[in-house]
Amino acid sequence: MTDPNRVLIFDTTLRDGEQSPGATMSHTEKLDIAEMLDEMGVDIIEAGFPIASEGDFTAVSEIARRAKNSVICGLARAQFPDIDRCWEAVKHAQKPRIHTFIGTSPLHRAIPNLDMDQMAERIHDTVTHARNLCDNVQWSAMDATRTEHDYLCRVVEIAIKCGATTINIPDTVGYTAPRESAALIRMLLERVPGADTVVFATHCHNDLGMATANSLAAVEAGARQVECTINGLGERAGNTALEEVVMALKVRHDIMPYTTGIDTTKIMGLSRRVSQASGFLVQPNKAVVGKNAFLHESGIHQDGVLKNVETFEIMKPADIGLNEANIAMGKHSGRAALRAKLKDLGYELGDNQLKDVFIRFKALADRKKEVYDDDLVALVQDAATNTEDDHLQVKHLRVVCGSDGQSADLTMLVGGEEQTVHAEGDGPVDACFNAVKAIWPHRARLQLYQVHAVTEGTDAQATVSVRMEEEGRIATGQASDTDTILASVKAYVGALNRLKVRRDMVGEGADAKQVSMYSH
Ligand code: KIV
Ligand code: ZN
Repeated sequence: MTDPNRVLIFDTTLRDGEQSPGATMSHTEKLDIAEMLDEMGVDIIEAGFPIASEGDFTAVSEIARRAKNSVICGLARAQFPDIDRCWEAVKHAQKPRIHTFIGTSPLHRAIPNLDMDQMAERIHDTVTHARNLCDNVQWSAMDATRTEHDYLCRVVEIAIKCGATTINIPDTVGYTAPRESAALIRMLLERVPGADTVVFATHCHNDLGMATANSLAAVEAGARQVECTINGLGERAGNTALEEVVMALKVRHDIMPYTTGIDTTKIMGLSRRVSQASGFLVQPNKAVVGKNAFLHESGIHQDGVLKNVETFEIMKPADIGLNEANIAMGKHSGRAALRAKLKDLGYELGDNQLKDVFIRFKALADRKKEVYDDDLVALVQDAATNTEDDHLQVKHLRVVCGSDGQSADLTMLVGGEEQTVHAEGDGPVDACFNAVKAIWPHRARLQLYQVHAVTEGTDAQATVSVRMEEEGRIATGQASDTDTILASVKAYVGALNRLKVRRDMVGEGADAKQVSMYSH
C-alpha cells in the first residue's frame, strides 16, 4: 500500500455479523453478499469461521474460489486444527488470509486457564503455524481494550516477530471511547518494536453507541484497517457500520484526509440485501441507510431543502446509490421498465427471477394504484426469501375477525402435500399461527413479531418480520403483502422453514453458533 492515508476496509458481515443470534444466512445469500462486497471494493472479506461448521467451511471455500478482487479471510481460534481448517478453505482464493485470535484480557485468559507466559507461547506457536501456511496472517487480541498495556505490547510484539502482517486491536465488548481508542493505537505504534512493519486494525462493537467514533479515532491515531459490517450487523448492539465509516471519511475528508477503495453507490443495494438475508430490519433513523436518513418531513427543513439542498443535506442520496426520483410504476409498466427500475435499485435479476418478480409486481399493481421503489424492494426481497422450493408454503388463507370472534382457514403445502385446517385464536394473527401449528406441530417460540408499512397510505404493503427460537436455534422470517395478516403467516412460515433447514443440518455440525470462541 503506497498511500499512507489509504484505509483498508475489512468487512465481517459474513462472520461477526452472521454470528448475531438469528442472523444466520443461507449458502446462496452468503455467496451473493460476498460477490456484492467484492464488487463494491471491500479490501478484505471475512467470509466465515471454517472450523465452526460444514456450512461455514463450504461457504468460505466457495467465496474464496469466486472472489475477483478482495482478499478472502477466514477466522481461526489459536489452535492448530482451526488454523489448518481455515487454510483449507481460504487457500482457493487469489488473495487468501488466515485470521487467528485469542482473548488476551485477564477475564479472557482465565477461561482457557492460561497464565501470561503460557498464552504468549500459544500466540508464538499458532501465528508461526499460520504463517507457515499463508503469507497473509492477521492476529487479533480479543478484548484488547481491557488488556493490561504491558502485556498487550508483549503479545503484539510476539505476533509481529512470528510473521503476522496485520494486528487487530478489538474492542470486543464495546467498552472504549474515542480518546482511549486513539491512545491505545498510538501507544502500540510507539512502544512495540516492528509496529511500523504491519497494518494495525481497529474492530469495534457498538454497546455504548461509539463504534464508528472509536474506529475513526483509531484511524486518526494510525490504524489503517477498519473492521466493520453492513448495517452495523453484529452481536448485541452490533459492529461498526461500514456505511458510516466510509461516508464519514468521504463527507469529512477536510478534517479526516483518509481514503477507502469503496464505491459508495453500492451501499444501499448491500444494505437492503443484508437486511433481507439476515432478517434484521434497518431502523428508520439509522445513519446513512435508514429509511428516514434523507427524508425532510418537518416544514422548516423541507422549505430549506427546496431552496438549497445543502441547507440540511450533507451527502447526496445518489452517493449511496439511492434513487432520488422515486417515480412510481403502475399496472401498465412492462417487463423492460421493471428490469431497468430494479437495476437502478441495485438488483440485477436473472430471467427466471425477473419473471417471478414481474408476476408479483402485476398482482400488486392490480391492488395498489402506484408501486413505489420501496414496494419493489419489498417484492424482490419477498421473492428471494419465500420460494417455491420451501418445505412449507402458504397456499390459501381465509380469516374471520371482528367482535364476534377470530378464526382462520388455512391451506398449506407440506413437502408438496396439501393440508387444510380451521383454527381459532385470540385475534386474527393468533388464529392463523394456531392454524400453522395444527398443520406443522412445532415447539418453536415466537420471540419477535414486528410490522412496518412499506410506504404511506392505507393500501400500503406491510413487511412483517418474525424471530423464532427452538432449542437454542434462532431463525427469522420476513414477508410483505398489502394484507398484513397474510404477510404475518408467510413470515411465520418462513421462519419455520429456516428452523427446519437448520435442524436438518445439525447432524452435519452446521450450527456455527454453538462453537465456543475459546481456545483449549
Ligand atoms: O470482537 C472480537 O474480538 C472479534 C474477534 C474474534 C476478532 O470478533
Ligand atoms: Zn467482533
